[in-house]
Amino acid sequence: KVIIIDYGSQVTQLIARRVREAGVYSEIHSCVTTAEQVAAMKPQAVILSGGPASVGEADAPALDPGFLELGVPVLGICYGMQLLAQNLGGKLAQSLTREYGPADLNLTAPCALWEGITSPSRVWMSHGDKVMVPPSGFAVTASTSTLEVAAMADESRKIYAVQFHPEVHHSVDGERMLHNFLFKVVGIKPDWTMSSFVERVVKEMAEQVGDKHVVCALSGGIDSTVVAVLLHRAIGRRLHCIFVDNGLLRLGEGDEVVSYLREHFDLNLNFVQAQERFLSKLKGVEDPEKKRKIIGHTFIEIFDEEAKKLSEVDFLAQGTLYPDVIESVSHKGPSAVIKSHHNVGGLPDTMKLKLIEPLRELFKDEVRKVAAELGMPDSIVWRHPFPGPGLAIRVLGEVTEERLAILRQADKIVQQELRESGWYRKVWQGFAVLLPLKTVGVMGDGRTYEHVIALRVVDSVDAMTADWARLPAELIERMSGRIINEVKGVNRVVYDVSSKPPSTIEWE
Ligand code: XMP
Repeated sequence: KVIIIDYGSQVTQLIARRVREAGVYSEIHSCVTTAEQVAAMKPQAVILSGGPASVGEADAPALDPGFLELGVPVLGICYGMQLLAQNLGGKLAQSLTREYGPADLNLTAPCALWEGITSPSRVWMSHGDKVMVPPSGFAVTASTSTLEVAAMADESRKIYAVQFHPEVHHSVDGERMLHNFLFKVVGIKPDWTMSSFVERVVKEMAEQVGDKHVVCALSGGIDSTVVAVLLHRAIGRRLHCIFVDNGLLRLGEGDEVVSYLREHFDLNLNFVQAQERFLSKLKGVEDPEKKRKIIGHTFIEIFDEEAKKLSEVDFLAQGTLYPDVIESVSHKGPSAVIKSHHNVGGLPDTMKLKLIEPLRELFKDEVRKVAAELGMPDSIVWRHPFPGPGLAIRVLGEVTEERLAILRQADKIVQQELRESGWYRKVWQGFAVLLPLKTVGVMGDGRTYEHVIALRVVDSVDAMTADWARLPAELIERMSGRIINEVKGVNRVVYDVSSKPPSTIEWE
């Protein structure tokens, strides 16, 4: 495996993804991790990430020189290169301006990283400081018109450094360079495949659980469904699944996952019908945060009640993903904050259950690959993310059965049209929102005064940032026409053209 030391760059996760896409398992660790700790992980290579700090500045994260004594190849990227230069006796220059954007990289000396790449190669730069003189033993291996030392290497010690970001797609040969590092320099054999992951994780969970029982909440989304199928493989009917229908699901969505699971697996599955309980608690509530809290608490209450009916449960399984567990580092040093998983609305902690999180090594796209590996249908594998509070945060204002019904019908049309046009898989999320206002329209000879539906369709890679999807006008027109014609009580449709930030994906 490859260990990536995170100095706080916004694109550190991309390094991990590129390495994994090459079939090599990689983990990100915060820059406070010591060389001793890294040695215990038995890495085959270490990659030092970029970061926003300036080497030498007070509070700037430092390099543990022990990383260079591990006996494995090291690649420094951007800030990682500057750390290497500083520690090994090179000269740096601080700069007040940042160089940001594309640059043509001239490969000035042969280097294992450049195999198969022709000079010049378009790369992506984002740095302030730069290396003026490389440490002794290092050769300058590439330059640009504004940067003499754009890359350097000491091939005898297998230490490589690049000032640009090979992990971003704008660096045209970046993937090739990373592959050269992994396969030519390190000589790693790619063995990170989803089938090897499934095999390993199923075996590990079987050992961890022994002859005990596990409970898990199904949400209808892909993560919890994959958790259930993996655990079912590991321990069979000692897995107990609880699916709470809170009445806030999309049309038919809960049923689809439940019937898929029932048809294909001999699961212990408790489908709890709690629509009325949720709706009565939401009665009269308009504030979005209050709605979220009520839904979260009610879910925990019900889950708790149902789980207590099981006589012997020791473990709780959750679909926590890798981005939820990566320690975050800030410019002013590492803060090691671990984000808590919010999909199931929090842990019923009175139950004193031990946690099982089989997906905690995976990125979202890898979960989809696992789902496909497990033979799940495309309609589940490619399902868009859906928030825990469900349609309650898409019916703006008070949630009532009548307003939910309008939204469900409009949303169904959006889902159908996205799928039929082939856009469903191209976008991150697409859905309808019911606005808390009425507008005037005219139908036939009469004036109407009815609801407005907003369409929200966004592109994103991780939901942290998003942009409105440039759907073809004809597709938006078809959705709008169908919603106004087919959904009683709606006379107007609008398309949301805001990006995140400053807006959010959801409207509440
Ligand atoms: P926002 O609206 O914050 O959404 O841009 C980012 C992503 O998170 C989902 N989302 C939630 N998921 N519980 C969830 O499980 C929530 O309370 C919640 N709020 C937003 C949203 O659908 C999007 O994918």
